[in-house]
Amino acid sequence: MINIIINSKNIQVEEPTTILQAAKQNGIYIPSLCDYPGLSPFGACRLCIVEVGGMKGFPTACTTYVKEDMVVRTDTEQLQNLRRKVFELILAQHNKLCTTCVKNLRCELQTLATYFGVEKVTFAPINKNLAVISNEPFFNRDYNLCILCGRCVRVCDEVERTGAIDFSKRGIDTVVATAFNRKLIDSGCEFCGACVDICPTGALIEKDFKECIFPDKTVVTICPYCGVGCQIKLEIKNNKIMRARPDINGPANKGHLCVKGRFGSFDFVSHPDRIKQPLIRIDPNRFIRVDDKNFDKVFRAVSWQEALDLIAERFRQIKEKYGPDAFAGISSARVTNEENYIFQKFMRAAIGTNNIDHCARLCHAPTVAGLGMSFGSGSMTNSISEIGDADCVFIIGSNTTEAHPVIALEVKRAKAKGAKLIVVDPRHTRIAESADIYLQIKPGSDIALLNAMMSVIISSGLEDKTFIQSRTEGYQEFKETVMQYTPSLAEEMTAVAQQKIIDAALMYAKADKSTIIYTLGITEHICGTENVISLANLAMLCGKVGKESCGVNPLRGQNNVQGSCDMGALPDVYPGYQTVDNPSAREKFEQAWKVKLSEKKGLMLLDMYEQINQGNLKAMYIMGMDPLLTDACVTGVRKAFGSLEFLVVQEIFFTETAALADVILPATCFAEKDGTFTNTERRIQRINKAVLPPSGTMPDIEIMAEVSKRIGYDLGSVLPEDIMQEIASLTPIYAGISYSRLEKGGIQWPCPSQDHPGTKYLHGEKFTRGLGKFHPIKHSALAEDIDNDFPFLLTTGRNLYHYHITMTAKTKGLNELAGSPYIEINPNDALKYGIKDHDLIYVYSRRGAITVPAKIVDTIKEGVVFIPLHYVQAPVNVITSDAFDRYTKTPAFKVCAVGIKKV
Ligand code: SF4
Ligand code: SF4
Ligand code: SF4
Ligand code: FES
Repeated sequence: MINIIINSKNIQVEEPTTILQAAKQNGIYIPSLCDYPGLSPFGACRLCIVEVGGMKGFPTACTTYVKEDMVVRTDTEQLQNLRRKVFELILAQHNKLCTTCVKNLRCELQTLATYFGVEKVTFAPINKNLAVISNEPFFNRDYNLCILCGRCVRVCDEVERTGAIDFSKRGIDTVVATAFNRKLIDSGCEFCGACVDICPTGALIEKDFKECIFPDKTVVTICPYCGVGCQIKLEIKNNKIMRARPDINGPANKGHLCVKGRFGSFDFVSHPDRIKQPLIRIDPNRFIRVDDKNFDKVFRAVSWQEALDLIAERFRQIKEKYGPDAFAGISSARVTNEENYIFQKFMRAAIGTNNIDHCARLCHAPTVAGLGMSFGSGSMTNSISEIGDADCVFIIGSNTTEAHPVIALEVKRAKAKGAKLIVVDPRHTRIAESADIYLQIKPGSDIALLNAMMSVIISSGLEDKTFIQSRTEGYQEFKETVMQYTPSLAEEMTAVAQQKIIDAALMYAKADKSTIIYTLGITEHICGTENVISLANLAMLCGKVGKESCGVNPLRGQNNVQGSCDMGALPDVYPGYQTVDNPSAREKFEQAWKVKLSEKKGLMLLDMYEQINQGNLKAMYIMGMDPLLTDACVTGVRKAFGSLEFLVVQEIFFTETAALADVILPATCFAEKDGTFTNTERRIQRINKAVLPPSGTMPDIEIMAEVSKRIGYDLGSVLPEDIMQEIASLTPIYAGISYSRLEKGGIQWPCPSQDHPGTKYLHGEKFTRGLGKFHPIKHSALAEDIDNDFPFLLTTGRNLYHYHITMTAKTKGLNELAGSPYIEINPNDALKYGIKDHDLIYVYSRRGAITVPAKIVDTIKEGVVFIPLHYVQAPVNVITSDAFDRYTKTPAFKVCAVGIKKV
């Protein structure tokens, strides 16, 4: 602490602090425009000039740091007159049509004009006469209104680390622009909207801002897309969401959003395509292609009463004839914890089966299994905010910038502070551009790479002997296995130069705080669980788990995939991962639910399709999932659904899967209900009802309660808060969770009691399973490698602008940015096949074929092609592999052999 005097007032402040910050902290107002919390001092507007004892002239308060015994004056008449002149100069360069400006009454310039009492500007106006740039999605740029405060440039460079815009030209002609005045999309802009949020004037403004100037209300809730769990503020007018803004108080996002949350999280809510009435199939042919012309011949709109009665009747008949295990339910990672809880309770208690699964089976089931086997619990060991303080970030199989953009900001924060970054990916993704070491691995060879890294670490004596000795078991057998993987052997298996493998190993092991980040590039393989275990082995070998800013961190995909797993929407566990074959867990749930429960583990997703084909599974209830787009090898899935006796789909839009249903039930979406989501860092957060749902829809919980009542089982209260109480009473890791506590902010599980603060990182003193377990893991050959007929390895994934497609495709701007499918091909391969950009390519595997336009990129390895998973026009899962992880039956989406032909 140092002592300074501002305006004769004695003040104590921490160093380093600028005069402006010190004044603000002590309630002393100094006008400012270019300064913004979290951005570097800029000193451009000169409105914050002050007098400092012993200093000549008028230094700017935002760029001058306080020193012991500094004496500052902020309020002299001379200062105020000078500031006023400076302000008038700024105004002279600014288009002054305030009354017609969309930022009218919200503009910081206007506020300052009132403060200075400026009624007319004495300087001659400078008219820039610049054309408004309005040919890009989401926001317009009118640099006639720009005051060159540079906030947008700094937020883009320093926070988003995108650097899409900068100052261009000099002197009076200075303007903010992209390089060579290219479109934003071609300048690396990710449309995060941070520049729009920070602009003090109307220079950067949302296209439809006019309509949302004065919202009726603002509701704080959570983004419905990825597992980061960004807190958003929805602005509502006339029961319509007009805008989503980032919430600085969001613990996971701290005021940041990506393009999907900022601009794509609300158009779908009020989209006319929402299903608004229950539908019953009248054409028995499930495979008939449904379109606008024949819709009324295939489906009949009915009352809720009729739809629910029909479901109850058919369920009763099927249960009587075939028993409860003839049913299966697919729950959803998009809906709330309370809805997932009720869904699995319905399947277990009302129907009587453990045949419940959901889309975690397609993504992170190997995480739950693998980290469970190694550590005793399968989730992110550390918190998002810890990543920025790591010394080394090791990213493997995660396109972080596009799939978890706000977490990528934490990686960039770490990098800016001097952390080392290692990226392993077959594609040179955007995050790889910042890597100190980039390893362009052959898809499916992660174990060979990781084992070789571990053999290097052991040979170099860099293993953490104390940690291994005191905290783990199984080391010797593990060591014998990994030592067989020399860097030169790994080079043959992975196509990564051995020196790079050695460098990466040493970099990871030598850093004090090393954190591992991974996603589906690790899990969606035939060896997905073993890949995860290998990462756990690596962290334990170096003692980099159970500590802050270290750990093994799977970034969960969908908004509530962590929560849907926690809630037991899985075939082998009740809520809180209490296994169904554990008699004491079963008894506890039997007592609470007052019903006898099945002790038999249920079917996993892929098993369900097999059991349909074998005639054992007759009826399915699918809530909020579209397996016909997202499952692997969808031709087989479609065929399986075709053989069901009865299929119920509960959805918000008419999806590919809904088109096969016998009954379609229109549900409500995230903005129309209360509840909780659990994000990737185990943080349980409240979502709040922002708008009334469309008439004709019903909340998922109420739908299930009605069906259940009709088949003779009372699911209990339908109020989310009551359901959370029931969850807490039965689920030890959620025992301390209640809505009243969550009002004050999200809490990270395990939270075993009402006075427990939640858990920032796991396995601190001991692992959940006691000792961490090393497992010897061997490289697995690909289920399907290249040959003459199928000479390419296909890998799949997301892009920044879509999340599957059901919701994001309803946002015009997202479609403008990435509305069409594509196949990424290396330029040398393109040359070999005579392929040019946009040429139509026929892509075929042993299971099917699609046609998709070419995109020639040098970011992908020769011999590898990539297709995003989002597009109905080119559903890549027609061709993906039918092989799966041997532990969890998660499909091997990430690699299969294909051939390509120019059409
Ligand atoms: S939208 Fe984001 S990435 Fe694009 S210019 Fe603005 S701050 Fe930069
Ligand atoms: S566009 Fe807005 S934020 Fe950017 S320099 Fe101009 S006034 Fe400042
Ligand atoms: S990072 Fe994820 S949670 Fe955050 S705004 Fe983007 S999609 Fe939503
Ligand atoms: S706020 Fe200090 S110079 Fe602009």
